[in-house]
Amino acid sequence: MHAAVIGLGTHLPPRLVTNGELAARFDTSDEWITSRTGIRTRHWAEPGTATGDLATEAGLRALKSAGLAPGDIDVVVLATTTPDHPCPATAPDVASRLGLGPVPAYDIAAVCSGFLYALAIGQAQIAAQQAGTVLVIGAETYSTILNPDDRTTSVIFGDGAGAVVLAAREDTDRPGALLGTHLGSDGAHKDLIRIPAGGSRYPTTAYTPEADRYFTMEGPKVFRQAVVRMGESATTLLHRIGWVAEKVDHLVGHQANARILTALAGQLDIPVERTVVNIDRVGNTSAASVPLALAHAARQGRLTPGDRILMTAFGGGLTWGSAALTWPDITPL
Ligand code: UT7
Repeated sequence: MHAAVIGLGTHLPPRLVTNGELAARFDTSDEWITSRTGIRTRHWAEPGTATGDLATEAGLRALKSAGLAPGDIDVVVLATTTPDHPCPATAPDVASRLGLGPVPAYDIAAVCSGFLYALAIGQAQIAAQQAGTVLVIGAETYSTILNPDDRTTSVIFGDGAGAVVLAAREDTDRPGALLGTHLGSDGAHKDLIRIPAGGSRYPTTAYTPEADRYFTMEGPKVFRQAVVRMGESATTLLHRIGWVAEKVDHLVGHQANARILTALAGQLDIPVERTVVNIDRVGNTSAASVPLALAHAARQGRLTPGDRILMTAFGGGLTWGSAALTWPDITPL
């Protein structure tokens, strides 16, 4: 069996945080943020709102977009860096709140590549005939793990959620077909993106320095890795499925930095006009980034059923992944 995308839903928490608001709190400026990252606004959840809340809303909308009832979903895969609790996973709670019944539901931890990891796993469960439909969600509340003393990460990350419904099909001829995926990792660089404390290697105690409880990133080193790894992954996938770069109608890259997206298009030889960009509005939403960018392009009227879409992402781990899709005849909600 093959997997096809039959529904897409998103949710952003209502609170919009402008560069101006951050410039009043940190030693930064709208000019620095815009020119170095391309970000103008991002959404942050109100205190008390958790990743599972955003994921549930996006999941509900994806089900509606697919025209499915809760009982039609066989599996939930939720990608997140910011689960509601260190234990248990967030996916079972989301499945329960969506009324999906006693279906398997589990989290994927691949940081900003998480959505593409979850998509690949959902596709594999369909191919193995373990599921006929899979709800794949990427959801984050980075605002809960940002160091209020770190101006660099604080201006980059945003909260949000995006979800797709995958369904089994016997062929890949019709729009919506997920034609292939590629995943990779390199743990030798695990320290470039991390929350140092709070795991089994460095449990949090009353004496843990506050900075070690927050998200950290070595920006310039990550930047270089991101362009190279997403480029390599996307190229490998293109070869695997027999697409050439000219045939790609839309490049949907992880919205980590507008400069990375431009460099990536150049590396892949895809005209930069075919790159989907919504980082200016939502910032880096990590595992929610790719489905939010897809929905953004669809709402702009840029996607026609059958268009060839190349998605690629990169994140902590290090991890990276790519997926190829023909755009389905759906309306994202
Ligand atoms: O989502 C997972 C993947 N993530 C990524 O791929 C992110 C990749 N990295 C990046 O996007 C960029 O490295 C950042 C946006 C994080 C940083 O941009 P950069 O151009 O690499 O800046 P930098 O870290 O090299 O810092 C340049 C200067 C420094 O000042 P000095 O030493 O030159 O005086 C920083 O202190 O910019 C300064 N700086 C800031 N200035 C104003 C760093 N953050 C800020 C800030 N406002 N928010």
